Amino acid sequence: MSTTSSSTPFVLVAFLRIVSGAVSLLSTVFTYGWIVIEDGLLTLLNLILPRLKPGYVVPEDAPGRSGLWPEYVAPQQSDSRSPCPGLNALANHGIIAHSGRGISFVEAEKAIRHTYNFAPTFSKLLPLYASQMLCRDYKTGTFDLADVAAHNGIEHDASLTRDDAAHTINQSSSQHALALELLTGGTGTCGDLTPADFSRFTSERRAHSRRANAQYTMSTIHRLFASANSAIMMTTFEGRVKDLNPWLIDERIPEGWEPRVRDRMGLTLTKLNLTATRIELGVEEEVRDQLKWFRGSKPIVQRK
Ligand code: HEM
Repeated sequence: MSTTSSSTPFVLVAFLRIVSGAVSLLSTVFTYGWIVIEDGLLTLLNLILPRLKPGYVVPEDAPGRSGLWPEYVAPQQSDSRSPCPGLNALANHGIIAHSGRGISFVEAEKAIRHTYNFAPTFSKLLPLYASQMLCRDYKTGTFDLADVAAHNGIEHDASLTRDDAAHTINQSSSQHALALELLTGGTGTCGDLTPADFSRFTSERRAHSRRANAQYTMSTIHRLFASANSAIMMTTFEGRVKDLNPWLIDERIPEGWEPRVRDRMGLTLTKLNLTATRIELGVEEEVRDQLKWFRGSKPIVQRK
């Protein structure tokens, strides 16, 4: 009988691996399957229940009630920060540890739910995915914000406010020039951003990365993450540049702000995905070769 290097019989190791693989697969299918079912139910409840009144979106016992956010303190060099404006803003206001270190996944879920009025399903999905990506236990594990920058885990190329990891290793703060390009490109009322603006800017970012980054990658899951992130800005912030400006540039929650989604059960994945799909399907760069055929030699990506 063949053995492994530690002289454990190969058959035993292989058997245990197959069993543990099957258990892990079943548990993943069950966990995510349940989240999808629960999310559908919460979406239905949102359709029936009255929306929260302005000023009452953040729960009474949570920081930020009636737009009164804890003080913003810019990060120090020793603080850990991520490529995510949503998490960095929580740390900059001390809603999670200002150091950005040793944050439990469970605590992140609660902070996200209360601060941004995400549905329990959506609030759980983000830290749950991060815990699995980092091979840590969801219930007992912790993370530093910088940990989620692992390239091609959740972090991906052609982001809206960060240069690609191949060019800028430090993903912990927004690149103001990029963020400003997005913030000044809105074609909605008062220059606010629309789903079409997010599609166009995403298209430009992907085209730029394809040209400028020899290591450019963009998998389906990262396309979905990217469009979901844009959809958060279109729903939770309603695309309003006045609020997105401090949030994307300084990673600060605007004074007096509260989430624009006032659904009683919070922003569900189902609702978010409707906007994310609209944004992703409008990304011209993904069909540039086919479009060339329709448009002759005209450039595909054009800014207004
Ligand atoms: C534990 C929860 C979360 C994790 C692990 C996480 C992780 C990440 C990561 C790794 C990125 C970088 C993606 C890229 O390369 O573009 C990112 C981007 C982003 N996140 Fe989060 N995030 C979380 C929660 C949130 C929340 C609560 C919000 C908003 C309320 C948010 C909004 C965004 C946005 C808008 C971006 C896009 C930034 C850009 O394109 O430059 N995230 N997030």
